[in-house]
Amino acid sequence: MNEKELRLEMEKLRQEIRFHNHQYYVENTLLVSDYEYDQLVARLREIEAAHPDWITLDSPTQRVGAGASTKFAKVAHPAPILSLANAYDLDGVRAWHQRISKLDERVVTADFVTEPKFDGLTVVLHYRNGEFVQGTTRGNGEVGEDITENLRTVRSIPLRIPVSEDGPLPPAELVVRGEVLIFIEDFEKLNQRLTEQGEKTYVNARNTASGSLRQMDPRVTATRPLTVLVYAVVAADGLMPSTQWETLSLLRSYGFPVTETAEYCKDFSSLLESCEHWLARRDELPFEVDGVVIKLNDLNLQASLGVVGKDPRGALALKYPAREVTTTLQDIGVNVGRTGVLTPYAILQPVEVGGVVVKQATLHNFDYIAEKDIRIGDRVLIKRAGDVIPYVIGPVIEARVGVEKPFSPPAVCPACGQPAEHLPEEVAWYCVNAACPAQLVRNLEHFVSRPAMDIVGMGIKIVEQLVEEGLLQDVADLYGLRKADLVSLEGFGEKKADNLLETIAASKEQTLSRLINALGIRGVGEVMASDLTGYYPDLDALGQATVEALMEIEGVGPNIAEAIVDWFEQEKNKRLLEKLRVRGVWPTVDVEPLAGETYQPLAGLIFVVTGTLPNHSRGEMKTLIQNNGGKVTGSVSKKTDYVVAGENPGSKLEKAQLLGIQIVDEAGLLDLIKEG
Ligand code: IVH
Repeated sequence: MNEKELRLEMEKLRQEIRFHNHQYYVENTLLVSDYEYDQLVARLREIEAAHPDWITLDSPTQRVGAGASTKFAKVAHPAPILSLANAYDLDGVRAWHQRISKLDERVVTADFVTEPKFDGLTVVLHYRNGEFVQGTTRGNGEVGEDITENLRTVRSIPLRIPVSEDGPLPPAELVVRGEVLIFIEDFEKLNQRLTEQGEKTYVNARNTASGSLRQMDPRVTATRPLTVLVYAVVAADGLMPSTQWETLSLLRSYGFPVTETAEYCKDFSSLLESCEHWLARRDELPFEVDGVVIKLNDLNLQASLGVVGKDPRGALALKYPAREVTTTLQDIGVNVGRTGVLTPYAILQPVEVGGVVVKQATLHNFDYIAEKDIRIGDRVLIKRAGDVIPYVIGPVIEARVGVEKPFSPPAVCPACGQPAEHLPEEVAWYCVNAACPAQLVRNLEHFVSRPAMDIVGMGIKIVEQLVEEGLLQDVADLYGLRKADLVSLEGFGEKKADNLLETIAASKEQTLSRLINALGIRGVGEVMASDLTGYYPDLDALGQATVEALMEIEGVGPNIAEAIVDWFEQEKNKRLLEKLRVRGVWPTVDVEPLAGETYQPLAGLIFVVTGTLPNHSRGEMKTLIQNNGGKVTGSVSKKTDYVVAGENPGSKLEKAQLLGIQIVDEAGLLDLIKEG
């Protein structure tokens, strides 16, 4: 390959990786497997390593820059980064409307946009000729701090604004404003992972996001699941939309993540309705919010109304009632996790917070209790944010009467009574008894769960019952259960026993990646498990992997690599694997399709799947197509044979129509497979 061709390949790789980043981090769709994605990145790295002078800052490999800095430089904002005045109820919104109607009568008939008030950190992102060149904090609104290197690690921030043939060209200078935050789901996963690794969990998503952005070492920032949602143009050297609603769609078309939850309100009365709607769906949002932001849709009108201090008159924050209340800490309970980690939780005098009665709350870990000096009997302040599990903020020291009792970590496991252990460098306390029934129950619960072996009908009650009866000593015993064992149990009839045994037997066919996830190795979840199957075709191969070899895989650090090797070295686990093998639970990954043996009706055909399908997820569709010999790609091109379109197919369908590519729906695809 000559240099020109190599360069072309590099550009193509970059484009493809950017496209997949956008699909994954902004559109939440997965069009390639993690393995395929890693292959693209690996090839790009290879080319760039051979030609370091070709590396540009907008290359997808350049998310984590070289090293740590010691201080953030100050940067003046191109326009003031304003704040918002607050209202606390609908009367406050009415008063605001009246005030500004008096200033300008156009307000009386104006339309509005409502958006969530993201509980994150404001960032200002600068693009020059479509390339991300600088990112700053809000600072004092006039001058912010340069956190470009940290922001580069935030995957949903486009490093380059994609230019599509039909889409609008971005202006040469574009500065946008957004909020960096952590989705509730990601935050909980992060904490779950930390708990399993015996490390300190984070108290709340906002502080974690803020701490992560202010890291001196971007490599640390890169490990946090930060995301951004963009909502305004701060400056641009071209013509920009004159309304907020159009601004949101323009930003979306530039590839920025923009919330889909914003609402257009044609007049003031629909604005009030929208505000009520926001209050009602507060808990349904995937991120934490502390209110609703109301904006006059007409940006010129907004600007002409001016500002009071740092608050524009043309916008308002309607704050939600705070979800912090005090109650009495009646006791501290201790949970045993599946890796034996002991975690404390608060048993509270039941109290209502925002329409929900809270009886228990997280206490994070034993260090947290000590640091905050939380005592049994204390009046404690608890917070329920979004959909997250409530947590104890701290004690109300002034309310103490002297009978409150300090708490010390348990000396023994509350489930099995064996001594609890604590490694000096970790925060966690562990029950190290391999036969601890609580750990076994948690392990089984995880093993049968949906993302793992998906044994439906096997709820926690049944798991506990089977462990109590001594029928299960490890997860492999599930596959040795007999009908006679089950029918004699309370609540079990013939039918229920048959059904359960049937689903257990069916789970033997689950994929290797599900089984790896199901084993519950510390730090190895769904995604990691699936990554591993890209390198190891079965559990024997994985069991022979060395720490060094594992660390070659992207995303596997020394902790996870060691956890995997450790897991396979333990005698107990070796016995477990043998049992699984003997009982026929031994999935392998087919690297090559079985040529000639199976009929592959879709062989040689290239598919693109887009939109929401009625009965299958896109991932399932993809597997189905691949299992039948077809190939699935992420973008529509002349080479595409079929586009499988569901609801809301978006631009891919349009492109397919333009290129005259055959379009089928889910049923159409199934017909193709049947008819060949
Ligand atoms: S607009 C002129 N929109 O809330 C417009 N701000 O309390 C000013 N915030 O400093 C801001 N979500 O950091 C706007 N959808 C949203 C927002 C939002 C969160 C933050 C922003 C601002 C703070 C004011």
